[in-house]
Amino acid sequence: MQEKTINGFSKLSKSEKANWAAQHFFNDPEQVIRDWAGFCHPEEATQKILDGLSENTVSNYHLPYGIAPNFVINGKAYAVPMVIEESSVVAAASSAAKYWMERGGFFAEVLDTKKLGQVHFNWTGDVRKLYHVFEALRTQLLEEATPLTANMEKRGGGIRDIRIIDMTHLETGYYQLMVAFETCDSMGANFINSVLESFADTLQRFVSAHPDFSGPEKNISIIMAILSNYTPECLVRAWVECPIEAMGNCEGIDPVVFAEKFHKAVRIAHLDPYRAATHNKGIFNGIDAVVLATGNDFRAIEACGHTYAARDGHYRSLSDCSLDNGIFRFWLDIPLSVGTVGGLTKLHPLARRSLELLGNPRAPELMCVIAAAGLAQNFAALRSLITTGIQKGHMKMHLMNILNHLGAEHEACAKAVDYFSDKAVSFTAVRAFLEK
Ligand code: MEV
Repeated sequence: MQEKTINGFSKLSKSEKANWAAQHFFNDPEQVIRDWAGFCHPEEATQKILDGLSENTVSNYHLPYGIAPNFVINGKAYAVPMVIEESSVVAAASSAAKYWMERGGFFAEVLDTKKLGQVHFNWTGDVRKLYHVFEALRTQLLEEATPLTANMEKRGGGIRDIRIIDMTHLETGYYQLMVAFETCDSMGANFINSVLESFADTLQRFVSAHPDFSGPEKNISIIMAILSNYTPECLVRAWVECPIEAMGNCEGIDPVVFAEKFHKAVRIAHLDPYRAATHNKGIFNGIDAVVLATGNDFRAIEACGHTYAARDGHYRSLSDCSLDNGIFRFWLDIPLSVGTVGGLTKLHPLARRSLELLGNPRAPELMCVIAAAGLAQNFAALRSLITTGIQKGHMKMHLMNILNHLGAEHEACAKAVDYFSDKAVSFTAVRAFLEK
């Protein structure tokens, strides 16, 4: 046990770290070290950037970087970069993009871009006194944070709102400063957290020095200051619509029947959290892939999206569908706090290329593209589920993966694709086919 633990790992050089881990956890340490080295970038400068993103790096973990073309969003054509390991996602997004390109494309609108952060604190004085001094507190909070906010204000952003939230009905003495921010083209995590930490410091000093407070009222305990990843007002809506009869025959199904079945499938995801989780996972297949490709924080996006999906106390579908007056309308409202400057967006060489591929959008335009990718993915998944079933598309990729794994030649692959077009794909069946 003890020989597999170490003090001062972070202080070792990259190759010392790799050596230590290889020697202690593998049967073939030389090969492991070669594998890790093999996945490092051939250009030293680029590898240095990647090494600098996180701690204790010994190699890079590669994921496929794909492009889904033919996304027409608000009349503009995009080729959308997607980083995802799951087969069929990029193909599904591309297919849905083309389908909707022929029916007017996607539409998207940013409803708001407000970000939020909180200072959580404990205080046991008379809350009316706190509200009474609030204007003076606000002035001091803003004044003392000026060195942090000046630049953001020049760019058109900054602090939009500060309020005290009384949480004492839930927990004795528990209050928050709830702060709203505009962070323009950056996701703004560093900016928000720095401002909140400054606010926490000011709040503490203000309360302990203010003449209105005496005795225990001077004691305020700051619990923590941190942004909220739940940003329900950093919201974008993406939608598609067309007359139902213009939807064409989907896998041989009449458009009216298809639209009704589709509508029902979305309805089920509103009613049943078991289905909603899978339905929304399909949306995030598209969303996360673009978020990752553009160097944004997919964990923040997921946390926010799932919280938003449960905003009425019941976890539901993020997308919705209507069939009014013969028009099929399918839409997605989703909070997306993303940036096109700062963070990894320009630092990671491929994130920078992704933004270039999208025409170097501002953050609101990127929100529109990401939401459209999520909606496209959801449309493609539901279209498969209510017609052929999801396995048909998946199995094609699965078959190719098995064939690659078994080292099949080009001609054998073509024959196998033909042979398995109407048969169940399994590893054993494919191996038996190749042996024959
Ligand atoms: C698979 O990654 C995603 C789906 O399960 C989504 C869905 O069921 O809607 C196909």
